[in-house]
Amino acid sequence: MWRATVLTIFPEMFPGPLGLSLAGKALVAGVWSLDALDIRAHATDRRNTVDDTPAGGGPGLVMKADVLARAIDAAASDSRPRLLMSPRGTPLTQARVAALAKGDGVVVVCGRYEGIDERVIAARQLEEVSIGDYVLSGGEIAALALIDACVRLLPGVMGKQASGAEESFADGLLEYPQYTRPAVFEGQPIPEVLTSGDHAKVRAWRQAEAERLTRERRPDLWAAYEARRKIAPKPPKP
Ligand code: ADE
Repeated sequence: MWRATVLTIFPEMFPGPLGLSLAGKALVAGVWSLDALDIRAHATDRRNTVDDTPAGGGPGLVMKADVLARAIDAAASDSRPRLLMSPRGTPLTQARVAALAKGDGVVVVCGRYEGIDERVIAARQLEEVSIGDYVLSGGEIAALALIDACVRLLPGVMGKQASGAEESFADGLLEYPQYTRPAVFEGQPIPEVLTSGDHAKVRAWRQAEAERLTRERRPDLWAAYEARRKIAPKPPKP
């Protein structure tokens, strides 16, 4: 079973959305497991303090190294990767998600406040992971996103639905546009090629659209795609 262990000061945020839909069904079916553990249970003072003022001064509070280290030691004695959700981490990619989904699971530490004491990161070999260049109030929503991305790849969770989106992204391209009935929506018809029944033409149209969207929206992905496929860049419009 693929195991997710989450360390947080808000365990009630879990499973949250992961308890619904396909991830929720797979959780009930025992395809994966989730333990959301309260860091605060490892505080030792009467007030259950998990944070303190930053050394050197400044605003906000810092999560204490000793409390977090005890929480990690109590939760994670196995060889699963230990991730710390943080906007300063390595950006999460589909390739990393796929690698995590192939393993035994993850231990995810959710930061809060201004951050966590730097010393516990090295002492407990935490790998900092970001889900994007924006700042959330804490790592919990980032942890939910990471676990969701992994769980949908576990065998039997998505069935055939996963494959389309996966192939497209693995290819390094964004997904082509999709349509379904009605044939005309507010005056807009479905592109004719998609109802032509010509499968080769449909494939070519989808490939061209995926390339167009990637070129327009994600110059970074497009450059990498071109480098891989050795496609000559399109000449700029006059
Ligand atoms: N915690 C706060 N912001 C985050 C982000 N962008 N990614 C991961 N963890 C976070």
